[in-house]
Amino acid sequence: MSKKIVSISDVKKYVGQEVTIGAWVANKSGKGKLAFLQLRDGTAFFQAVAFKPNFIEQFGEEEGTAKFDTVKRLSQETSVYVTGVVKEDERSKFGYELDIRDLEVIGESQDYPITPKEHGTDFLMDNRHLWLRSRKQVAIQQIRNAIIYASYEFFDRNGFIKFDSPILSGNAAENTTELFETDYFGSPAFLSQSGQLYLEAGAMALGRVFDFGPVFRAEKSKTRRHLTEFWMMDAEYPFMTHEQSLDLQEAYVKALIQGVLDRAPQALETLERDTELLKKYIAEPFKRVAYDDAISLLQEHEADEDTDYEHIEHGDDFGSPHETWISNYFGVPTFVVNYPASFKAFYMKPVPGNEERVLCADLLAPEGYGEIIGGSERETDYDKLLAKIESEGLNPADYAFYLDLRKYGSVPHCGFGLGLERMVTFVAGTKHIREAIPFPRMLHRLHP
Ligand code: 4AD
Ligand code: MG
Repeated sequence: MSKKIVSISDVKKYVGQEVTIGAWVANKSGKGKLAFLQLRDGTAFFQAVAFKPNFIEQFGEEEGTAKFDTVKRLSQETSVYVTGVVKEDERSKFGYELDIRDLEVIGESQDYPITPKEHGTDFLMDNRHLWLRSRKQVAIQQIRNAIIYASYEFFDRNGFIKFDSPILSGNAAENTTELFETDYFGSPAFLSQSGQLYLEAGAMALGRVFDFGPVFRAEKSKTRRHLTEFWMMDAEYPFMTHEQSLDLQEAYVKALIQGVLDRAPQALETLERDTELLKKYIAEPFKRVAYDDAISLLQEHEADEDTDYEHIEHGDDFGSPHETWISNYFGVPTFVVNYPASFKAFYMKPVPGNEERVLCADLLAPEGYGEIIGGSERETDYDKLLAKIESEGLNPADYAFYLDLRKYGSVPHCGFGLGLERMVTFVAGTKHIREAIPFPRMLHRLHP
């Protein structure tokens, strides 16, 4: 076929004109002389209509009937070139419709496993390569794309340079119990858990830097918030206080939500996401609450009728029911600041005058989505950092480059990491993180 192919998202530019579309048949219905095709081409879904008398008028009785029968018999996910006239149609969800003049089958599709009926999650996950074609899955990936785009835009507007951290590393950035180890020519190497430590070196060379790449955590958690491979946006910046860092993170998250509202409104509609809530998160300031105040609040409310979290003591880490309650209590994304040093990473700077708390923050999303950002001000003192590395049982030799940054012109600096899939799940309003990435890697999932 030598015709120019028009994408479905572009058909509105061609009202009244004849166009050809390359698409897959997502669904089909019909009655007598009419056949309705639900077509999708990745950019959008819309309806094309074949009317038998038109086919006969155009091609004659025999050929027209044969063509119409071909349309009627199309099976799900058959790929086709469809030529027709674009019509405005207020009744259709998309607002436009195609009046089919001709159709050519490109690739047959027999017994497509994912039918319009309900399927179980395991079945859908086994068929992830096909499940990705479904309307909701397409919408989620469009939202993911909008967030990535908005992220690059935000960093560029705010003077950040993209700095690529390595994936293969000789040290642990976060937690030695959650490392994927691999053989590196006879020595152990680890898949990166976060680009942060290298990004700090970048910040001392280039100022404001960010990275965006896959990170890996051998976490044996089987929750709706955990993947073993996920994509992280890390940012690092010198000469900023922790308070200023929170301002930056807040502006960043708002820019990402706005980016989705601007770039993927149709996707939000498909997912029936409450966009008034998203707009509220942009319009209202995020809440900031100290860890110890959050614990006190949880203790005060633990006997309330509508709470279902376990008792928690000062010094304990939150479980997800605690996180959910805190962010729902405030109704907007909430920074919990100054956690205990005991369960946070070695590189965080203590709160002045209180060695047991660190200058860090987790950003908790409302509606039960949990932590989407982890960030902190970094320890700048060589001796204190070395002592911390040693007390955590880490080998200082593995962190020699990182310690050097405190030897040669150490400066105050902060940074954060946002988990892309957590953010996608939150903005899309979907239940489980596994749908936020094309091919999720989880405790019991490596295929497809
Ligand atoms: O809180 P985390 O562990 O922080 C860091 O890795 C820092 N080095 C970041 C930095 O300061 N540059 O991870 C950051 C974010 C979390 O807030 C969460 O959104 C996401 O990464 N995350 C996960 N997402 C999916 N699956 C998992 N197993 C995740 N673990 C963390
Ligand atoms: Mg964290």
